[in-house]
Amino acid sequence: MGFILAAVGSAVGLGNIWRFPFITGQYGGSSFLITYLAFVALIGFPAILVEFVIGRYTNLNPVGAIRELGSGAWNYLGWLFVAIGFVILSYYSVVAGWFLRYTLIGVIDGYTLAGPEEAGQLFGTVTTGLDSLLFHAVFMALVIGIIAAGVRKGIEVGVKVMVPAIIALLVGLAAYAFTLDASGAAYSYYLSPDFEYLLANWTSILPAAAGQAFFTLSLGMGVMITYASYLGEDRNLASDAGVIVALDTLIAVIVGFVVFPFLFAAGIEPGGPGASAIFVSLTSAFSTIPGGRLIGIVFFAMVGIAALSSAISILEVLVSYLIDEAGVSRVPAATAIGVAVFLLGVPVTVDLIFLDLYDKLADGILLVLGSLLLALFVGWVIPDIAREELQKGIGDLGGLGTAWIWIVRVPIVIVVVVSLYLGIVDYADFLTGSFAEWLAAR
Ligand code: PHE
Repeated sequence: MGFILAAVGSAVGLGNIWRFPFITGQYGGSSFLITYLAFVALIGFPAILVEFVIGRYTNLNPVGAIRELGSGAWNYLGWLFVAIGFVILSYYSVVAGWFLRYTLIGVIDGYTLAGPEEAGQLFGTVTTGLDSLLFHAVFMALVIGIIAAGVRKGIEVGVKVMVPAIIALLVGLAAYAFTLDASGAAYSYYLSPDFEYLLANWTSILPAAAGQAFFTLSLGMGVMITYASYLGEDRNLASDAGVIVALDTLIAVIVGFVVFPFLFAAGIEPGGPGASAIFVSLTSAFSTIPGGRLIGIVFFAMVGIAALSSAISILEVLVSYLIDEAGVSRVPAATAIGVAVFLLGVPVTVDLIFLDLYDKLADGILLVLGSLLLALFVGWVIPDIAREELQKGIGDLGGLGTAWIWIVRVPIVIVVVVSLYLGIVDYADFLTGSFAEWLAAR
């Protein structure tokens, strides 16, 4: 039970509530949604199993696990995980800090905004300069404190309360959003697939869906290896993976039913607001809904806690690496790495262009690369061990076990390689486009 809670705690976070709606908005709504759902089911689910079998078989942290099972160049995979963790956590903490700040705004002033424009201005204040820096520091301090004290267990209990509470709040908000006049238009934007659009834009939709799927499921950097390393052999890995994927996807999909009606009602083009989508749509909603202030406070706080349970899973990978590799003890390891992550995040508090710089790199390239290498490793280096490990706690899978190995070996590798290539092209475009322009303007 602790394992499921920890894994769900890691998976459910900013990826579902903050990132999913704005990426969906940027990549065409329904066309993105359908690609993303297919990716999660066909690639995300088998890919979780890849990390689970490695973790449970070795009972080791990701770096140690790969070292035990592989040899030669595979040992560098651990370094990749560590690098990914650094980049992701650095901006994750900044964004999580925004949620803390929005909670406090509710407590102090309430969400009394004249309209979406004022909501946008508020977002600007919250996300730049000292305001943003301060809350980034507070959030990182919480993450460091929890990992240094090794009190992850307490957080797992929190997950038990928080995940159902988030779902209940989101369903309530979605029901309210349903009553808005704009909801019909929003639903058709979100739900009726436009295959022409999809065909015309698949080269950008596919890598975006791949990155979002791996990010939201915490895949590609060893988090699920770590958590599965605590698992007993009696657990059915496939059904555990099913629960995690289902809950995580459900939450993201409901967020779409909240955000898009409010954006449409405010006359905001869904791809426009980018990283501010959830904040602008919800703060304007909270300032009109009866009881909005209280709902808002509870909502933002819950997301903050969800972000915390995800962030600790990332820092744990980094810290366990330093502990095992360099023999550093827990408190100094957590502090040193936490401070380094904090510093790496500082530019994001100065200008949001760094959010794109980090997020596109981590999501579009690094997590996809990490997942690709893990699939190759399990599919081609340790297929027999993997198949056997999967069957423990399930029973003889017969042809299904072999089918899983072959899915991991070929189709997954092909789709992920294509996504990775397209992700690199996209990132190069970003570097030579928006980012170069930004630099030139300095
Ligand atoms: N899955 C987390 C979320 O959706 C983010 C995360 C990514 C956590 C990678 C761990 C590793 O918020």
